[in-house]
Amino acid sequence: MRPPGRRAAPTARPVVPTVRLLLPLLLSLLRAPCGVGAGPAELRVRVRLPEGQVTEETLQADSDADSITLELRKPDGTLVSFTADFKKDVKIFRALILGELEKGQSQFQALCFVTRLYRNDIIPSEAMAKLRQKNPRAVRQAEEVRAPEQLHMDIAVNFTQGGLLSPHLHNVCAEAADTIYTRQEDVRFWLEQGVDSSVFEALPKTLEQAELPRCRQVGDLGKPCACHYSLSLAWYPCMLKYCHSRERPAPYKCGIRSCQKSYSFNFYVPQRLLCLWDEDL
Ligand SMILES: *[C@@H]1O[C@H](CO)[C@@H](O)[C@H](O)[C@H]1NC(C)=O
Repeated sequence: MRPPGRRAAPTARPVVPTVRLLLPLLLSLLRAPCGVGAGPAELRVRVRLPEGQVTEETLQADSDADSITLELRKPDGTLVSFTADFKKDVKIFRALILGELEKGQSQFQALCFVTRLYRNDIIPSEAMAKLRQKNPRAVRQAEEVRAPEQLHMDIAVNFTQGGLLSPHLHNVCAEAADTIYTRQEDVRFWLEQGVDSSVFEALPKTLEQAELPRCRQVGDLGKPCACHYSLSLAWYPCMLKYCHSRERPAPYKCGIRSCQKSYSFNFYVPQRLLCLWDEDL
């Protein structure tokens, strides 16, 4: 057990000024257990979904790999995961959608959406790795609801080559090998960063040619269409809070701000069959 007090414990990284983050009501960012190769730090929090239900969310941070992973299960059984790869400026959304077996659908369908990671999307992995919570039973609700984002996914990612974009892709998107999507504007950025162009493949028809009908309007299960999928990150630390103190010369990190954000993806499917959840309400 570590002493809970306010005094500094010895740290393995004397060069880096250790941050002590405190958010009195919710979470404390205490000193990491420390040591190189300590493995990813994990935090399980109970969160309220935008629809009102409560679910458990797992947040993992690996400061060596400089990445964060968030995972949550929706009430309908869908497993949503989000991976932030700070080394490669890549974020990966994955949804494992349960099929309705009585309708003859396969057990689950996997989708992967890969877009550019921005620095202000989520807090850095080393800060995330230090997050601790005082009350694991508390149901957390985001302090800020960020504007929902609509993303037009017009490029396919070749799974075999995916490791050139991010080393996480092979693990995260293994079940979605044929359904990994990204966007032209993000591809342009990664190509400038030196990512090999063999990772990306044009899709047969871009949605911009408005001729492609929305899947919900297509009756023929064999026809291509524009599919739609939405997901939400119910609760995640999106910003660091800074405090001022008379005893310290500069503002210091003292907590986090939590956000919620929804993403809505549009993408091409070669068959209506691959987009059965997109139905008229
Ligand atoms: C993906 O890339 C590999 C290696 O370049 C290639 O052999 C394969 O045909 C590509 N897959 C598709 C679906 O284009």
